[in-house]
Amino acid sequence: MPMKIRITNIREIVTPVSRDVARGPGMNQLTIYTDSDLVLSNERIDSIIPRNDFIEGIEHTIDAGNSIVLPAFADPHTHLVFGGTREDEFNLRIKGRKYMEIAAMGGGINSTVRETRKASEEQLFENAVKNIRDMIAHGTASFEIKSGYGLETQTELKQLRVIRRLQETQPVDIKATFLGAHEIPPEFSNNKEGYVSLLCKEMLPAVKEQGIAEYCDIFCETGVFDIEESHKILNTAAELGFKLRIHADEITPIGGAELAAELGAVSADHLVYISDTGIKRMVEAGTVFTMLPGTTFFLMSDKYAPARKILESGGILALSTDFNPGSSYTHSMPMVITIACLKMGLTIEEGINAATINGAYSLGLQDITGSIHPGKQADLIFLKAPSYKFLVYNFGVNRIGAVMKKGEFIYQKS
Ligand code: NIG
Ligand code: FE
Repeated sequence: MPMKIRITNIREIVTPVSRDVARGPGMNQLTIYTDSDLVLSNERIDSIIPRNDFIEGIEHTIDAGNSIVLPAFADPHTHLVFGGTREDEFNLRIKGRKYMEIAAMGGGINSTVRETRKASEEQLFENAVKNIRDMIAHGTASFEIKSGYGLETQTELKQLRVIRRLQETQPVDIKATFLGAHEIPPEFSNNKEGYVSLLCKEMLPAVKEQGIAEYCDIFCETGVFDIEESHKILNTAAELGFKLRIHADEITPIGGAELAAELGAVSADHLVYISDTGIKRMVEAGTVFTMLPGTTFFLMSDKYAPARKILESGGILALSTDFNPGSSYTHSMPMVITIACLKMGLTIEEGINAATINGAYSLGLQDITGSIHPGKQADLIFLKAPSYKFLVYNFGVNRIGAVMKKGEFIYQKS
C-alpha cells in the first residue's frame, strides 16, 4: 500500500497549466488553486482536493504554514563542478575589462581549467555538493551539469565521474553533459585543429565508452569553436549517440541557432545575438530556447536575448542560472527570473513556466517533474509570501521556506 500524505494549510497551489511543455503565448498562463489541499502518494502527487474534503487512508499530514506551493525549478544549464573561483576577475570587469579580453589574457575559462586540473576528485565533489545545497535552498531540485573545465581527457572524465557521484548521492535529478569543447586548452593554443581532432577521436569515444554523459555541448563562438568546427564535433557526438546542446550566439552572431536546428539539438542556449532566421528554424525544429539573463547581467551588457520575439514566434523558452565561476556566479533561479522579467520583458507567469516545466522539458524530465500534476514526483517549493508573485517581485531575497523532492523535504529554512 502506498503511503498517503496530505499537505494542508496551503495559501495557493500554483502550477504550469501544461504537464509537458509551455510554448509561445501559452507561457503566460498558470493554474492557481485556492482552498485546496495536496495529496501525495509515496513520492508522487496523487491529487488536489478541496480543503474540507475527507479522504480515506491518510497516514500523515503536513502543515504548510500558509505557504504558496509551486513546482521546484529545473535548471537546464549549469557548470557546477569546478576548482577555484574568479572574484578577482569580477573586479577587473567592474573596472572595464571585457570577459573575452580577460580570456585572451589567459584568465576566464582557462583559469578555472588550471584550478580544476589541480583539484582532487574529492575536492571537486565537496565543492559541488555545497553549490547544489545552495541551489536547492533557492528552489532548484533538478539540474543539468556540464564538464568543460578539464579540456583534456583525464580531467574531463574526472569531472564527469564527480557528476555521476552527485547523481548517486544527492537528493535531486541530475543530467550530465560533456563540454570538452568549452575552450581551446593552452597546450593547443596554436593548434586548434589538433584539439578538434582529440575531441572527436579520443575524448568523445572515451566518454561514450564510460556511459557517463547523456548530452554533448559546445561553446560555438568567434574565437572559440566556429560553425564549421562546431558542426564537426557535434556531428561526431550525434553519431556516437549523444543528444546535443549548444552555447550559441552568446557574444557574436555566427549562426549557432541555425546549426542547433539543423542538427536537431535539444536546446540552444544564450542566444543573445540570434538572427530572425535562427528563431524561425529553432521554432520549426522544436529546439528549446534556453535564456541565461543572469549571465548578460553579470557580464554588464545591455543586450539581452530577444525573448519577446521568441515567444511571439511560438518558441519554447526555458530559463537557467548558467551557474559558473566566471560569467554567472549565482545560485538563485528566482533572481534569474527577476532579471528575465525586468530586462527581457517576461511576465512573472512566463518566467515561472520557463524555470519549471520548460526547464524540465529541456532535460527530458517533463514526465516526472516541472509541474503539479497527478503522477508526477512531489518536487515542490514552499514559498512564504502573500502570493506567488513575490517570488519574483521581492528581488534578491530568498522567500523559500522549504523544498521537497520526491515527497521528502530536502531543505527547510532554520
Ligand atoms: O555559459 N560561455 C561559455 N561558458 C560559460 C562561462 C564559463 C566560464 O566563464 O567559466 C557560460 O557563460
Ligand atoms: Fe554555459
